[in-house]
Amino acid sequence: MLPDVTVRLWVFALILARQLTMQMMQNPQILAALQERLDGLVGSPSGYMESLPKVVKRRVNALKNLQVKCAHIEAKFYEEVHELERKYAALYQPLFDKRSEIVRAAYEPTDEECEWKQDEEEELTEEMKEKAKVEEEKKDEEKEDPKGIPEFWLTVFKNVDLLSEMLQEHDEPILKHLQDIKVKFSDAGQPMSFTLEFHFEPNDFFTNTVLTKTYKMRSEPDESDPFSFDGPEIMGCTGCTIDWNKGKNITLKTIKKKQKHKGRGTTRTVTKTVPNDSFFNFFSPPEVPESGEMDEDSEAVLAADFEIGHFIRERIVPRAVLYFTGEAIEDDDDDYDEEGEEADDEEGEEEADEENDPDYEPKKDANPPEECKQQ
Ligand SMILES: *[C@@H]1O[C@H](CO)[C@@H](O)[C@H](O)[C@H]1NC(C)=O
Ligand SMILES: *[C@@H]1O[C@H](CO)[C@@H](O)[C@H](O)[C@H]1NC(C)=O
Repeated sequence: MLPDVTVRLWVFALILARQLTMQMMQNPQILAALQERLDGLVGSPSGYMESLPKVVKRRVNALKNLQVKCAHIEAKFYEEVHELERKYAALYQPLFDKRSEIVRAAYEPTDEECEWKQDEEEELTEEMKEKAKVEEEKKDEEKEDPKGIPEFWLTVFKNVDLLSEMLQEHDEPILKHLQDIKVKFSDAGQPMSFTLEFHFEPNDFFTNTVLTKTYKMRSEPDESDPFSFDGPEIMGCTGCTIDWNKGKNITLKTIKKKQKHKGRGTTRTVTKTVPNDSFFNFFSPPEVPESGEMDEDSEAVLAADFEIGHFIRERIVPRAVLYFTGEAIEDDDDDYDEEGEEADDEEGEEEADEENDPDYEPKKDANPPEECKQQ
């Protein structure tokens, strides 16, 4: 049972959000239909309920109260799932550590460890083999003595649409230095959260060796809407300060602006620094203000952010090699319709619709991000 439930929890949330962003937004009718269904689930007043005798309605209320109690038990269940995840994270970790060592050339795997039998389907003809061999040798000549697996994480990023959409050309030289991504779960008894740690080798761009992004979760039914509870939700996130070296802050750009003096008609040029698109903006997400009120842009940015954080934790980190080779991407694509492919253009505007997805709505009572914890 357990795998089913966790799969339902994580994958369904992911797919729903993906569908909303990628595919539904292409088609207002689908969106409207989906919204109707969501509304229906939340329990729009139906004529039937109205028509019931008072005494029956009264008993239905009793059933609903039982349902609320179920939601609270379900919340406990997910807390235990989180505990299990923590326990198993410790079992995976040595393997992820070894992966990291191989990627960054701290460990050279033995011949035995490197043996991999090819699928029979993929048997190559002699001719193809010969061709591949020649190309292989040519490549080896070009890149003499590569260390570990060069650009492993950058390649993963480029291969995953969700991440490559954030990636700018000027981010790439920096991400070449990314050596590992780790997921750390909150300790037992602490509020539920997970932290993504991005480990970098020493580089010219910033002095940090680890950049962190923490996602706060909540696994308890909302008092005002207990029936919408469907497992832990991401409530908010905090990034960290990147200590950019001088002149390397790619999240900023300077622009020259011509200003005209109204009275004299003379013009002068002023330079201004403005935010620049960059993956590294991921580490300074919009803050959820105390009041919980956010503008639509920030909400859309956060909704996308939660989806990305969740995806990195749930898919990328556990199966990085398959995103590097591209094998995992085919699997993911099966979940989506073709239409989704063209959705990119309008993204900014339509993403706000994600707020209709209960799993990704930044909650009103989310805690304001706390001070960055650097490690
Ligand atoms: C700002 O972004 C553009 C492209 O999006 C890039 O070419 C440029 O290098 C960036 N500016 C800085 C200062 O890094
Ligand atoms: C880098 O740019 C961001 C804005 O994108 C700014 O908040 C931050 O203070 C800058 N950091 C440094 C070290 O200049």
